[in-house]
Amino acid sequence: MLEGKVVNLRIEEKEDMRLVAEWVNNPDYFGEYIPLMQQSRTELEKGYETMPPEVRWFIIEKKDGSKIGSIGHFPVGKVFEMGYAIIPSERGKGCCTEAVKIMVDYLFLSKDIGRIQAHTDIRNVASQKVLEKVDLRRKEQFVSPRSSEESGEICVSTAFSEKSGKNRRY
Ligand SMILES: CC(C)(COP(=O)(O)OP(=O)(O)OC[C@H]1O[C@@H](n2cnc3c(N)ncnc32)[C@H](O)[C@@H]1OP(=O)(O)O)[C@@H](O)C(=O)NCCC(=O)NCCS
Repeated sequence: MLEGKVVNLRIEEKEDMRLVAEWVNNPDYFGEYIPLMQQSRTELEKGYETMPPEVRWFIIEKKDGSKIGSIGHFPVGKVFEMGYAIIPSERGKGCCTEAVKIMVDYLFLSKDIGRIQAHTDIRNVASQKVLEKVDLRRKEQFVSPRSSEESGEICVSTAFSEKSGKNRRY
């Protein structure tokens, strides 16, 4: 368990897939900037069992144990990328900011990596604010081919990265 002041990050268990299926099949969970997943609990459980060890998802829990979202990391080439979402009723309370901060610290402490990144749709101001608040620097803007294929739209993404963990305080 990774502990913060407002939230804890608990590694996902297979049993969590029931709740995760509820979340990811609800269009409000990923919001308007991420394509809707529509995955069944069985598919998610299968995915959980075959997940490579370098990919990890955590349930974001409040201090009372209520589950309010998920955050994960996965390798993209030589860097690690993060993804995250919070249920609509718990947004705007700083929970994602703390979860991302914990994840950045955890990755720099536990892995031999020099860079962590995330990318957001250019219109996704809430996500960009989260990344700015944890001091990830706005890096570049690019057209995301994946989003274009899925949504049929040209989607401009903004990449955020932190090049080095050396100067962080732990
Ligand atoms: C992005 C997301 C995870 C943020 O979660 P959260 O817990 O609400 O984030 P926080 O409360 O830590 O911070 C959000 C910040 O964005 C601000 N914000 C939210 N919506 C905003 C908007 N439309 N315009 C400007 N600022 C906005 C909040 O005020 C807050 O900033 P503040 O602390 O300076 O007031 C959440 O909105 C979400 O789950 N969205 C759907 C999934 C998603 O887009 N994931 C990211 C993929 S890259």
